[in-house]
Amino acid sequence: MYLTTVKIFVILMVSITNICSIWTDAVPNPAVRSVPRFRPVVPRQQLPTLKKVEILNWAKAQESEYDSTEAMLIKNFTYSPLQYHSTWQGNTVHPLRDAAIYAVALLDSEDNGMEKRAFDVLRKILLLQDTKNDSKTYGIWQYYLEEPLEKMSPPDWNWADFIGTQLLQVVINHHERLPTDLATNMATALIHAARSIQRRNVGPSYTNIAVMGAHVTLAVSEIYNITDLHQYALRRLRMFANYTKENGGFEEYNSPSYTVVVVEELGRLRMHAVVPEAQQLAAELYYIAWKEIIDHYHPSTGQWAGPHSRSYRTILGDGHVRFLKRSMKNELDPRLPLPVPDALKPIFLSNTTIPHTVINKYAKGVPNTRQDLIGTTYLDVSWTVGSINWGEMWNQRRPLVAYWTTKGKTSYFQLRFLHDGNDFSDAQFFSVQKQGQILAGLVLATDGGDKHISLDKIKNATISAADLRLRFEIGGSDATNASVTIPIIANPIKLKFGNMSLQLAMPSIHFDNHSTQYFNVTRGKDHVYIDYILFNGARKNIQLDTLKAAAVIVAAQFSNGESPWSQTMTTLQGDLTQTKWQDLCLAIQTKPSTVAQLRKTVKYGCQ
Ligand SMILES: *[C@@H]1O[C@H](CO)[C@@H](O)[C@H](O)[C@H]1NC(C)=O
Ligand SMILES: *[C@@H]1O[C@H](CO)[C@@H](O)[C@H](O)[C@H]1NC(C)=O
Ligand SMILES: *[C@@H]1O[C@H](CO)[C@@H](O)[C@H](O)[C@H]1NC(C)=O
Ligand SMILES: *[C@@H]1O[C@H](CO)[C@@H](O)[C@H](O)[C@H]1NC(C)=O
Ligand SMILES: *[C@@H]1O[C@H](CO)[C@@H](O)[C@H](O)[C@H]1NC(C)=O
Ligand SMILES: *[C@@H]1O[C@H](CO)[C@@H](O)[C@H](O)[C@H]1NC(C)=O
Ligand SMILES: *[C@@H]1O[C@H](CO)[C@@H](O)[C@H](O)[C@H]1NC(C)=O
Ligand SMILES: *[C@@H]1O[C@H](CO)[C@@H](O)[C@H](O)[C@H]1NC(C)=O
Ligand SMILES: *[C@@H]1O[C@H](CO)[C@@H](O)[C@H](O)[C@H]1NC(C)=O
Ligand SMILES: *[C@@H]1O[C@H](CO)[C@@H](O)[C@H](O)[C@H]1NC(C)=O
Repeated sequence: MYLTTVKIFVILMVSITNICSIWTDAVPNPAVRSVPRFRPVVPRQQLPTLKKVEILNWAKAQESEYDSTEAMLIKNFTYSPLQYHSTWQGNTVHPLRDAAIYAVALLDSEDNGMEKRAFDVLRKILLLQDTKNDSKTYGIWQYYLEEPLEKMSPPDWNWADFIGTQLLQVVINHHERLPTDLATNMATALIHAARSIQRRNVGPSYTNIAVMGAHVTLAVSEIYNITDLHQYALRRLRMFANYTKENGGFEEYNSPSYTVVVVEELGRLRMHAVVPEAQQLAAELYYIAWKEIIDHYHPSTGQWAGPHSRSYRTILGDGHVRFLKRSMKNELDPRLPLPVPDALKPIFLSNTTIPHTVINKYAKGVPNTRQDLIGTTYLDVSWTVGSINWGEMWNQRRPLVAYWTTKGKTSYFQLRFLHDGNDFSDAQFFSVQKQGQILAGLVLATDGGDKHISLDKIKNATISAADLRLRFEIGGSDATNASVTIPIIANPIKLKFGNMSLQLAMPSIHFDNHSTQYFNVTRGKDHVYIDYILFNGARKNIQLDTLKAAAVIVAAQFSNGESPWSQTMTTLQGDLTQTKWQDLCLAIQTKPSTVAQLRKTVKYGCQ
């Protein structure tokens, strides 16, 4: 594999909340005035021979997928109803991003026999860019050759960043090998992409794209000497750094899917930034990103401890596992070296095996609106559990997740809330945690998202449903052996895996039509679902704002050996359900309300 870092999932790059444009002083000027001259201000990479051989082997392994008629790779494709942006339903695609990565590899291999093909692929990619400066999709690319931008729903502006990044690798490292016409067209395409990024101007809360766009605009402005673009890129980077430091961390916090993207993009920025200020900011942000990873790396499971803002699978994929293991051993990819900063190495080496709690702040609270966003992670020797103090039950979130190891194998526990089998973003999650004890409250909102937090908003406070359930999901090697005995409500479900004990209870369930509710356990090959069914029956419209109650309290206790269970105390206090459990106390609204109102009224700790 030439990608010693991580193969990124590319289809789900939608902003977590608001793609607001808040860089105040951007002056988009998309016209490419004259053909810019390339300046070799960024040092080109010298790859070791072994690496070049590895890259060449990877490129050769793609041979069966190369379609010379289109000068692109052709890939099998499986339609997923959860995909965003693309509505393509065919069996194969020619993906532009894969083509760009392939072209970079062909050139990086330094194999002369591969050069012509690389140029063919690049020419093809350039042809597919929207270069009409008055077009809405100016400067971007479609995903697939077979699906033009106007067929996409909606087009993905991130492709200016993702394709731009790859084209930059080509001009920085191989400019002198490009035929004159191609060199000129690459410059024009990169400037179109950079101007598109500037015109779109995403805000600093959209972490991975905020960084990627800063890198593309900065590098393009440096190598083609575009003064106003350079000033824009620096302002954007300054503002992103300021925003991140003021908040305490990245808004797309602790994300196996995106913190790695951020490390990679900051790694590129570190390599390519020319002016000292940009180098300094890149180094500071790079440290913050790595600190997040080191804080949550759990050595005995090899997993990335929760809570996660965005994740596509609960157990890390092979690419991420390799990336973490190699980084910890300081085995770096010469194409994109991403060393753990020296200052963080002692923390990693010294005490990650001593039980400890990591508490991180990810967003500043807004008075009378919402509290600070805080992640709590407890790391014991063989297990770890993490939770976020407020969030949603979207399928990319892991607001409460635990990992453990028995006999060298990893398993996980994850809390989910499902609407007709899909994770229900509308369910709002709140929690307090002390070591292995977590007290969580879930309540439905009247205006949240359904399958997706922002692209699929609930309309008119009404959902159509045949099933609503809370799920305690256990997955991984221990799932098949988990013996589950369903207790009477309020007594804990007791599970034991190796030395770790997990006890779970639902001390309080305020949900309309309580009498139809029950536990149901389903076993699969590598999971066991302990579901608490809140509603199951003939499909009907549920008008959320007329429900008197839609709140559930969950108490979870992880411990070494079975520690005693102490009962919770729940009281209704006006509109709030307050639960006290040993040192933990949480009060959430009982009745559905707007997301904003639920976040405003939650109380952490007893008054
Ligand atoms: C793509 O699909 C074809 C036909 O189903 C199959 O023969 C081929 O192995 C698949 N290729 C890959 C890379 O999965
Ligand atoms: C598009 O580019 C043309 C030619 O450079 C320029 O005259 C025109 O003003 C540009 N339009 C916009 C909307 O920027
Ligand atoms: C970069 O652009 C500025 C302003 O357009 C110009 O003064 C300067 O000479 C250029 N530098 C190089 C190295 O071309
Ligand atoms: C961020 O910007 C604000 C306003 O300009 C300033 O007061 C603050 O000190 C900056 N914070 C950091 C961490 O640079
Ligand atoms: C771990 O070590 C770091 C640096 O040596 C220190 O700041 C931190 O407090 C330690 N954490 C624990 C839980 O001991
Ligand atoms: C919203 O739902 C209510 C109650 O079912 C209904 O009376 C109203 O017409 C709906 N409004 C819209 C815009 O669908
Ligand atoms: C699961 O149960 C089987 C059969 O009882 C046993 O051989 C295996 O070791 C168990 N696995 C774990 C992870 O405990
Ligand atoms: C688990 O318990 C066994 C037996 O009590 C003990 O030998 C082992 O060290 C424990 N493992 C951990 C990781 O605590
Ligand atoms: C509860 O029952 C009432 C009356 O049967 C019905 O109108 C309402 O929709 C039910 N609520 C839920 C959540 O099923
Ligand atoms: C309950 O679990 C059984 C399997 O244990 C499954 O067949 C059934 O569909 C489940 N019922 C519901 C309502 O999920």
